[in-house]
Amino acid sequence: MASGVAAEVKSKLSIVDVVGEQVQLRKAGTVLKGLCPFHGEKTPSFVVTPARETWHCFGCGEGGDIFSFVMRREGLTFPEALKQLAAKAGIEIDERTSREDAHKARLREVLEQAIAFYHVVLTQSKTGAPALEYLHGRGFTDETIEKFQLGWAPGGWDQMIKMLQSRRNVNVAELAEVGLTSARPNSRGAYDKFRNRVIFPIRDASGAAVGIGGRILPAAAAADSNAPKYLNSPATVLFDKSRTLYLIERARGEMRKADEAVLVEGYTDALMAHQAGFENVVASLGTALTPFQVAVIARYAREIVLAYDVDPAGQHTNSIGGAELFRLIGALAAEETGVEITRVRVARLPEGKDPDEVVRENPDLWREAIRTAQPIMEFLIDYYATAFDVRSARGKSQVVATLIPMLREVRDPVVRDSYLQALGRRTGVDERVLLEALHSPKSAGGSTGPGGRPNDGAGSSGRFTADAIISAPDSIDTKAELKAVSLDERKLLRLLLLVPDQQERVAETLAAQKMQLPSTPARELLVAMLADRDRDREAGGSGRFERSRFLDALDSELHGLAIALYAERGPDPNELTGDRVRIGVDQCLLALEADRLEEEIRFNGGELVEAQAASDSDAVARLQETQRHLFEARRSLDRRRQDTSLLASAGGHR
Ligand code: UTP
Ligand code: MN
Repeated sequence: MASGVAAEVKSKLSIVDVVGEQVQLRKAGTVLKGLCPFHGEKTPSFVVTPARETWHCFGCGEGGDIFSFVMRREGLTFPEALKQLAAKAGIEIDERTSREDAHKARLREVLEQAIAFYHVVLTQSKTGAPALEYLHGRGFTDETIEKFQLGWAPGGWDQMIKMLQSRRNVNVAELAEVGLTSARPNSRGAYDKFRNRVIFPIRDASGAAVGIGGRILPAAAAADSNAPKYLNSPATVLFDKSRTLYLIERARGEMRKADEAVLVEGYTDALMAHQAGFENVVASLGTALTPFQVAVIARYAREIVLAYDVDPAGQHTNSIGGAELFRLIGALAAEETGVEITRVRVARLPEGKDPDEVVRENPDLWREAIRTAQPIMEFLIDYYATAFDVRSARGKSQVVATLIPMLREVRDPVVRDSYLQALGRRTGVDERVLLEALHSPKSAGGSTGPGGRPNDGAGSSGRFTADAIISAPDSIDTKAELKAVSLDERKLLRLLLLVPDQQERVAETLAAQKMQLPSTPARELLVAMLADRDRDREAGGSGRFERSRFLDALDSELHGLAIALYAERGPDPNELTGDRVRIGVDQCLLALEADRLEEEIRFNGGELVEAQAASDSDAVARLQETQRHLFEARRSLDRRRQDTSLLASAGGHR
């Protein structure tokens, strides 16, 4: 797991120590100065700025962070410099990481091949006809089937295996590794795991295939009551159900834009919502919602609406009851998800109806149900006050015992008080009693939920800790990676990844101004973007940037950074006009230029003070002249920044 190592190295090593081993530095105000190791000089113009962990030579123009220093000094590549400095910082980098990355890329490719096969079978073969009819019957259009690459896994035992082996050069071991085969019990060999099922491809947020879900057709289900309705890929190196949300790759843009995510349970619910144009909807894949899934959602939206079939009376087979809701809150409120529980709401759907049906039959009703969804705490108070008989003492204490632990999850004391009052009103329990219960952790802990099952939700007992989340593979905590680059670089790179047609302009602008991005990982990422375009040109293309190819070519450190940047919250540049994007990019560039200028002004100012102290009038005159130029440059830069920010606000950017 090399991702985030650059940030960790930066946080552990001081640039003063790293550079200080090679260059004699002496303090000059808030910076340190020395003779530049990269060009011969007699007076020091090489400056280290500890506050920003950067170095810069005003003589030769070189500069950067610890990585670029070691790269230049010792002629190393970024991964080599990273490795060397990581060792120095006492951080282990897994040697296998890059090999594993290549292997994963291959497995994703294999999975894509299988998905393509299932899709062709569904849409272009006789075998797929009944499944196609079934999907049409449920209201899914051909466009949806195409767009979401739905498929049909044919019957027989090894049609998929045979086809992929013979035509697409895929071997059985690879298919087994992505979870598409099962071993034959009594003989050697394998057979297709998914047979006679409608296939729903599952992707991660970046759009890469990670697994599939397969639904049985009603006739087959009737014939074999033991067959599960849905069969999902098992856990593989690509697929971890607890961190995956169906349609996240499609929903995240809208989730971000609306600052609201709607969560449903099933594949078909999410799919139907998307078909109807409700694109901020994701499905939790039938598992109990996990904090990891919540954390993924929280990256894109602050408001979360649960559109589950919640059923206080527990009459419907598929509805979720109190215990499940409790666990749900536990997951939502787990410390690291970043979710404020007061922003979680529960939609009330017509009793016993799946979102799938509601959306299809009455989109307006769906829209209204989401709009008027009730804050989860209010919902729960109503829910439990209805489920228990609050007129009896026993009923009262059950409601209180169940709700108090949940109220503890509300971080805002004002909001918590208002809920406490509501609970008091609903149950007739004195508020002071409730307050006391709230503040004594053990007494009202409520060991069992209303369903009689233990309340072992992550929220109350065994909290999910930051360590647990960070140390898990494919960590959802992307913030670590981002720490390796500055905020302005982050904004810039995010724009460049999302709107690739700006990449070359930025590279040219930087080169023309003899400027470089201050952080090495940022530089490397920009270089990799340009390299991807070159790859396209070499293949006879027009220099198009292709995300998956770009990502595949990155080493794991940069891959982690790129993914983190893609996942960062912010306006979706694809919704902005070309002008807008250009302005956004320019703002970042100007900010970087301003930083560099400030650095130069500070450096020159220090020189000036020294020259004055030494009564060196020639030097004083020269430095004063330089200082005037620099101030003029700063004024002009300020004007340009004002102009662009005026431009930026003129278009009503949200
Ligand atoms: P449901 O049984 O509510 O199915 O399970 P559904 O989504 O409404 O499916 P349709 O509309 O009948 O086609 C909800 C979700 O739980 C998971 C699936 O993700 C499903 O979408 N599930 C359910 C399984 O993984 N396996 C099962 O056997 C059943
Ligand atoms: Mn359904």
